Amino acid sequence: MDKILILDFGSQTTQLIARRIREIGVYTHILPGDIDYEPGFLDSVSGIIFSGSPSSVYQEDAPVPDKAWYETGLPLLGICYGFQRMTADHGGEVLSLEKNEYGRSKVSFQKESPLFKDVPDGFLSWMSHGDSIKKLAPQFNLIAESEHHIAVGFWEDKNIYGIQFHPEVSHCEYGNQILENFVCGISGAEKSWNMDAYLAEVKDEVASQTGEKDVLLLISGGVDSTVVGALLLKALPPEKVHLMYIDTGMMRKDESAEVEKILLTLGAQNLYLIDAEERFLSALAGVSEPEEKRRIIGDLFITVQEDEIAKRLSGDYMLAQGTLYTDMIESGKGVGKKAQVIKSHHNVRSPLVERKREAGLIIEPLSKLYKDEVRQLGRNLGLTEAIVGRHPFPGPGLAVRIPGDITKDKCDILREADAVFISQLKERELYDKIWQAFCVLLPVRSVGVAGDAREYGWVVAMRAIISRDGMTADVYPFEMKDLLEISSLITNSVRQVGRVVYDVSSKPPSTIEWE
Ligand code: XMP
Repeated sequence: MDKILILDFGSQTTQLIARRIREIGVYTHILPGDIDYEPGFLDSVSGIIFSGSPSSVYQEDAPVPDKAWYETGLPLLGICYGFQRMTADHGGEVLSLEKNEYGRSKVSFQKESPLFKDVPDGFLSWMSHGDSIKKLAPQFNLIAESEHHIAVGFWEDKNIYGIQFHPEVSHCEYGNQILENFVCGISGAEKSWNMDAYLAEVKDEVASQTGEKDVLLLISGGVDSTVVGALLLKALPPEKVHLMYIDTGMMRKDESAEVEKILLTLGAQNLYLIDAEERFLSALAGVSEPEEKRRIIGDLFITVQEDEIAKRLSGDYMLAQGTLYTDMIESGKGVGKKAQVIKSHHNVRSPLVERKREAGLIIEPLSKLYKDEVRQLGRNLGLTEAIVGRHPFPGPGLAVRIPGDITKDKCDILREADAVFISQLKERELYDKIWQAFCVLLPVRSVGVAGDAREYGWVVAMRAIISRDGMTADVYPFEMKDLLEISSLITNSVRQVGRVVYDVSSKPPSTIEWE
């Protein structure tokens, strides 16, 4: 399969470049921009992109590509910092602007080039930079200028291209066309990346990695592990596949039953549903400190896992994981050496995973995919829209949605309120417009009237956000009518809830979950 390589110098839009090119139909892989060059990196590579960066080429610690990339003979495209980097590395000059240039900017062509095939002169590009080109490198031909007559595009005879603007950003007119011109026209990559092709390939890969061994997968009920489960059951004899699901007592309403139904439909034969509600709730009794709650849940999860696995499997079985491409990058395997590691708290590093990794017994069949590609793969595997379109759910479950101490009663109340909220969103056709929605049970009792009596009921907060990846989030702007109706449905059907509020905080500064 042809592929495009991106050297990442730490830009926020590197992932976006990769996604855009994959949408065009060409597999794209990201490497740290300052990685030492190895010829093996070029296997099946048709072209290379240098990304943007928060650094300036003149900074002492700016990421520098190995010079060998320039000698590969493959087409290269520098974007923003990549453009400036190539210029500086070839004897041109870059200068710092007094004011950052940010936003739309008209581009006028100075010379015909294959990079701008089918793009009209004067199109509006998207700029975001603090440095600019003072003088192009001697062998670079100017192909485009900004409104202020500054070089924003060059082409060198050995097929090196640079552009100052960001074609990957949706505000850039003809951005996809420019990327496609580079990827398919100039680099000649074939559009062979799609989920059908990937499914065929990954099925063989899983079968050959596994050989005669058994495979264990821990199912959380989320999209990723469900897709891995479906894939394993397609790729391997079902008797070799062991699926374990631990119910901590802090799952959503009917979640465990639904998980069981889905997995049985997929042909699971070794399905272990572990009811660990009592163990978890008694370990958490009386604990209110958020980090302490998370720690207890994380540790106990590992203990229960190890206990339950030991009862069923031993020896050198394989462990399958639903790790995504973004997880690999976030945990520091894909970004530049000096780039900030942005890994969140989310992936539990269990001793089991570490042991299996050391022994080479891990399979991660989603590790090349972005979330939306995982959803598509799920569809190709026959999973329903209700499964692949599910909102994310945190590992510690309802525990992070019940500030203060956790009891079974509180979990039950929250489960009921949350189920009303979610079913209303589905009924009103809002569920798919929202990235994540849920209720939170506040540690507050507020007064209300029930008949003639005053009653102290719980307060429930509704949360609904839109987001791309959970890193930032905006509040979903409900119609007031929907809010009012859903609020009264919650208080009418969950007796213990006396008041409903709507959380109108974006992320940042708030997080999506309350703890
Ligand atoms: P926050 O609350 O950090 O959440 O803004 C961002 C996204 O991550 C989910 N989340 C978690 N997922 N284990 C998980 O698997 C966790 O401990 C965890 N904490 C938050 C959250 O639901 C949201 O989608």
